[in-house]
Amino acid sequence: MCGIFGCVIKDGQAVRLITDGLKRLEYRGYDSIGVATIVDGGLHVRKDKGKLEEVVEGLRINEMEGTIGMGHTRWATHGAPSRVNAHPHIDGSGNIALIHNGVIENYMELKDELIEKGHIFVSRTDTEVIPHLIEEELTSDIGMKGAILRVLRRLKGSYAVVVLSTHEPDRVYCARHESPLVIGVSDNGAFCASDVPAMLPYTNQVSYLRNGEMAVLTLDGYEVVKVIDGSLVERNLEEITWSLEMAEKQGYTHFMLKEIYEQPESLRDGLRLQEQYLNLLTQFLDRGKDVFLTAAGTSYHSCLAASYIFSKLSRLTTIPVVSSEFIERYGSTVGIDSVVLAVSQSGETYDTLKAIDHARMRAATVLGITNTVGSTLTRVSRAYLIQQSGPEIGVAATKTFTSQVIVLSQMALRLAKQKGKLSQDELDEFEEKLTLIPSWVEDTIQSNSGYIEALAEKYQDDKLFLFLGRGISAATALEGRLKLLEITYVPSLAYPAGESKHGPISVIEDGVACIFICPRGDTHPNIIGSIMEMKARGARIISICEEGDEEVKRLSDDFIEMPRGIPEELSPVPYVVPLQLLAYHLAVLKELDPDMPRNLAKSVTVP
Ligand code: G6P
Repeated sequence: MCGIFGCVIKDGQAVRLITDGLKRLEYRGYDSIGVATIVDGGLHVRKDKGKLEEVVEGLRINEMEGTIGMGHTRWATHGAPSRVNAHPHIDGSGNIALIHNGVIENYMELKDELIEKGHIFVSRTDTEVIPHLIEEELTSDIGMKGAILRVLRRLKGSYAVVVLSTHEPDRVYCARHESPLVIGVSDNGAFCASDVPAMLPYTNQVSYLRNGEMAVLTLDGYEVVKVIDGSLVERNLEEITWSLEMAEKQGYTHFMLKEIYEQPESLRDGLRLQEQYLNLLTQFLDRGKDVFLTAAGTSYHSCLAASYIFSKLSRLTTIPVVSSEFIERYGSTVGIDSVVLAVSQSGETYDTLKAIDHARMRAATVLGITNTVGSTLTRVSRAYLIQQSGPEIGVAATKTFTSQVIVLSQMALRLAKQKGKLSQDELDEFEEKLTLIPSWVEDTIQSNSGYIEALAEKYQDDKLFLFLGRGISAATALEGRLKLLEITYVPSLAYPAGESKHGPISVIEDGVACIFICPRGDTHPNIIGSIMEMKARGARIISICEEGDEEVKRLSDDFIEMPRGIPEELSPVPYVVPLQLLAYHLAVLKELDPDMPRNLAKSVTVP
């Protein structure tokens, strides 16, 4: 996830607007900054890694001239934060500059093709292929618009791009596919940005580009065309009535809610892993005599869910362990034959880094999954994968869990394939189901959010909640309970449902709320038994079950219905979403700030 901003304006300096716009896009990324303008027919680019203020001051960006320009604030996915990897990226002739948000899946093959034609690349990004492809297309004399359209048709993956070129120094081209892009118009000119707040001080007349659309911005306004055939799209502007503060959260009242709603998009990005690293990590996993999964907080719950997935799909035993316990528990057994996969959104959690330091000292192979390229975890791991969910501001992690689980699921499937542990049919089926996860999450949010808000009202005065699930749903239960605990402070228990009769059942009395996570699958018959046990003792049952699961619905006081066809092995991703929403609405009803829970920090970098 990155932030992009482009403009062409009648008076004044474009750069002041660009840096101001980037400031409001920093939530989308903040490891590198870059700006490009065109002055007297010449392209000017300044960029570097670092925070916005530092780079703007260090490179004196605000002194750049130009009434047309664009800027980028980066959250690295391909290539660590550095000056060369920062956007804009330039073609070989130095006449075309481009900024990009998204992931180009087929960049390796495009890059090989371009290298063969003599193009020289300076960065490790996926983005750099795009300006070079445009340069290549321009040789066939089809003009900028034709060249950009041709290139866009070749890209696989997600993108929002802005292109400036000295060939047409008065035009900003921008386009999108599965990454957000808004255009806006005022008396003073035209703008494009990753979201509305970036341009809101200059205009409230905007239009959201749709997938597969390109816009051309000029001082006279804008034109929107379809990428597929270049045909004109009629698109009216709409008026935005949000305040600037609301707009920063894109109309959501809190970052946590915004991030919950962002999950279909972050999951789509999470499915676009770099093949070579996915293969590398799974090869390392396969070589381990012992495989440990270590993490803290939500990331630990991702590991717990993953231990079921690795076992069921790849027939690999993994040992999930909270990182603060790793050294005491396994410090003396971890060794040269061990693989330790550390999972950490920030890549900086003290306990996780301590655990892997110890593992490295004992010659174990350390692997990482993180959201933060350039973090300590990426520097010390033998190989790592990026969860690609973009910055998360809410302290309670939401998209982190779902993205990590989708990344770990892909590792498990890849391993199953490499080791021949699943039949071709099973592999095909799981692979297809993985691609459906983002839309299942979308459907879940769309069809249940109103109902869950009402449910929160109904249960807002409850003093205790139990979260129960069998098999992999025990991990979903723990994560759902963590959300509730973090932001509402309401005492709660989470247990594997089968274990509940060995303790938790003692707290059940009339009216205690018991939340059951009941996807279809191997554990379904057993969960029915667990529900009956609790119901018989007076518990109020709230269940999350598949649409049309009459058996569970009959036993429940309230139920949240999930899309049909979700395999149990992949269920934590969609099934956790109602729990995130429930915790969120309960916190709001209690007049608590879900973005800033008491005593908690987004990243715990101290012992
Ligand atoms: C803190 C945060 C949690 C997070 C945990 C691990 O406790 O409040 O939301 O899950 O740290 O963070 P990491 O960056 O290692 O995933």
